[in-house]
Amino acid sequence: MVSGSGDNNRIVSGMRPTGRLHLGNYHGALKNWVKLQHEYDCFFFVADWHALTTHYEDSGDIAERSWDMIIDWLAAGISPSSSTLFIQSRVPEHAELHLLLSMVTPLSWLERVPTYKDQQEKLKDRDLATYGFLGYPLLQSADILMYKPRQVPVGEDQVAHVEITREIARRFNHIFGREPEFEERAEAALKKTGKKNARLYREMRKRWQESGDEEALEVARAMLASQQNLTKGDRERLFGYLEGGGREILVEPEALLTETPKMPGLDGQKMSKSYGNTIGMREPIDDVREKIRTMPTDPARVRREDPGTPEKCPVWDFHKIYSNESTQQWVQDGCTTAGIGCLECKQRMTEPLIAELEGFQERAREYEEDPDSVRGIIQDGCEKARSTARETLEETRQAMGLQYR
Ligand code: TRP
Ligand code: SF4
Repeated sequence: MVSGSGDNNRIVSGMRPTGRLHLGNYHGALKNWVKLQHEYDCFFFVADWHALTTHYEDSGDIAERSWDMIIDWLAAGISPSSSTLFIQSRVPEHAELHLLLSMVTPLSWLERVPTYKDQQEKLKDRDLATYGFLGYPLLQSADILMYKPRQVPVGEDQVAHVEITREIARRFNHIFGREPEFEERAEAALKKTGKKNARLYREMRKRWQESGDEEALEVARAMLASQQNLTKGDRERLFGYLEGGGREILVEPEALLTETPKMPGLDGQKMSKSYGNTIGMREPIDDVREKIRTMPTDPARVRREDPGTPEKCPVWDFHKIYSNESTQQWVQDGCTTAGIGCLECKQRMTEPLIAELEGFQERAREYEEDPDSVRGIIQDGCEKARSTARETLEETRQAMGLQYR
C-alpha cells in the first residue's frame, strides 16, 4: 500500500557499526542497498547509538568502526550522489524524537518485542538490563519515522521493530492528530483541490471506508500526492480523513524484505564474526585463499574416490553465488560420482570470489587513502538528513503542543 503523506519514494535503513564488513554482510544487506539506491530516494546511516545500547562497555573504537564500515559501503558501490549517508549520532534530532515518542510508548510494548528477551538470553555476558537497551526498538522507530519513508529494507530479524514503529506512529497520530474541528478543516482543505478532485476523493473515501476497497484508497492517495498547492498540514489532514483517523503526522512504514542468497560461513553455519567463520571484504587475498583451501567439505568424501553430496557441503553454497549454471552442473555431476576432487571444486568458485574481492579492495583503498573525502561525504549527508529531520521534528513538537513561537 502506498503510504500517506510520506515521501512515496523514500526508504531508510541503518546498520550498527560492526567495523569492516565480511562477505555475509555484503551479499546480505549491502548489495541490496546498492540495488535499491537506483530505485528509491535512500537514507542509509550508521546506527552508532544502537551499538551503545549493547556495547557501552567497550565503545572506545566506535568511531573507527563506523568509518571502516562507511568505507566498505562506498567500496560496495553505495553512491553518495544517489543516497544520503549519515551517522545517527551526528543527527541529534533522532534523540529528541526518541524522547518525544517515549512519552506515549507503553512499557509493555517494549518489553514484549521478541528481540528484547532473546538478546538478553543470548548475550549473557553483557549488561542488557538498561533503560537504553529497552528503548532500542523505540530509537529505531524514531530513526524511521523521522524520514517518513514508504519502506524500510531490513532482514527477517528486524521485522518486529518495523511493526512496533507502525504501532507507535498510529498511536501518536491517534493522540495528537485529533485537533479540534478536524472534519471541518479537512473539508475546507478538500475544497482547495478543486471540484473534480474533491468529488473523486469523496467517492473513493466512501468506497474505502464502506467496503475496504484498497484500489479506491490508492486512487485517492495518488490524487493527493499530485496536489502541488496544499499545505503540509492540509495534506496530512486529507490523508488522515481519507482513512477515518486524525491527521497523519507520522507515517506508517512497511518492512521491505528482500530475498538474499544464503551466504554460509566457512564452516557451513551462518557467516558471523562471533562464529569466527568469516571472509572479510578487505582481508588479504592470500589469507582468503588459504581459508577456502582448508574449509571443510562433505565429510562423506574422506578419500578422493568417495562420492559426496553438494547439499551437505558449504562449498556448494558458494558455487550457488559465484558459479554459472554449467559450472554448478559440473559440481553436481563431479561430486556425486567422485569425478572431481574437492580442491578443484573449490578452485572454480575461488576465482570469481577473489575477483570480486580484488575489485572491492581496490575501491576501498582509494577511500582509505582519502579520508577527507569520506568525511566530506558524511558531512553532506548529515546536513541533508538534518534538514529533513528538523521538519519532522517541528511538526511533531507542534502537534504535541510544544510551540513557543
Ligand atoms: N536495528 C538494526 C539492526 O540491527 C539497525 C537499525 C537501527 C535500523 N535503526 C534502524 C535498521 C532503522 C533500519 C531502520 O540491523
Ligand atoms: Fe563439496 Fe565440491 Fe567436494 Fe562436493 S566436490 S564435497 S561440493 S567441495
